[in-house]
Amino acid sequence: MDEVERVLLRREAIAKRVQELGAEISESLSGDQPLLAVSILRGAVIFAADLVREIQGMVEMDFMAVSSYGDSSVSSGAVRVLKDLDESIEGRDVLIVEDIIDTGRTLKFLLQNLKARKPRSIQICTLLDKVDRREVEVPVDYVGFRIPDAFVVGYGLHYAGRYRNHPELLVLRAEAVTP
Ligand code: IMP
Ligand code: MG
Repeated sequence: MDEVERVLLRREAIAKRVQELGAEISESLSGDQPLLAVSILRGAVIFAADLVREIQGMVEMDFMAVSSYGDSSVSSGAVRVLKDLDESIEGRDVLIVEDIIDTGRTLKFLLQNLKARKPRSIQICTLLDKVDRREVEVPVDYVGFRIPDAFVVGYGLHYAGRYRNHPELLVLRAEAVTP
């Protein structure tokens, strides 16, 4: 059985939106210090790689990994740090770069965790937002696309480790996605 239901977003549409986000973020830069883009492993890596190249100005990158779905497609609710940042963010202007917001639990945890380290500012940029699925409120500053409740893969997002390298965003058939 073919797992893929349909193409949600083609590469041109993604690239155009990433350019627009980069331009918006560029306008918000403080100018006195580099922006620190904190990309959340592993799903946001491809988005982050494209996004930082659309930002005009100094950008540094760091990475953090948190547990979320593992190989399964249902959020457990519990979040923990699997890999922490390499550097301090005290006094820094931080931009969290995430692939997708579903329940909001991952980002809520990340925001609290990073705010406690006293950055000068902290903002969130997500490529995708499944608004209807939100369980906890999170202030999101930049959203690429608001999408319906469906299981999405490609452009960094995976199902059971697969599809991360697919250049488009795809919707998988609900029957194909086992929790
Ligand atoms: P949340 O904590 O429920 O907001 O889940 C956020 C995380 O779940 C994201 O960072 C993704 O890693 C994963 N996730 C949520 N929805 C999808 C999806 O449709 N496809 C792939 N991963 C997803
Ligand atoms: Mg993620």
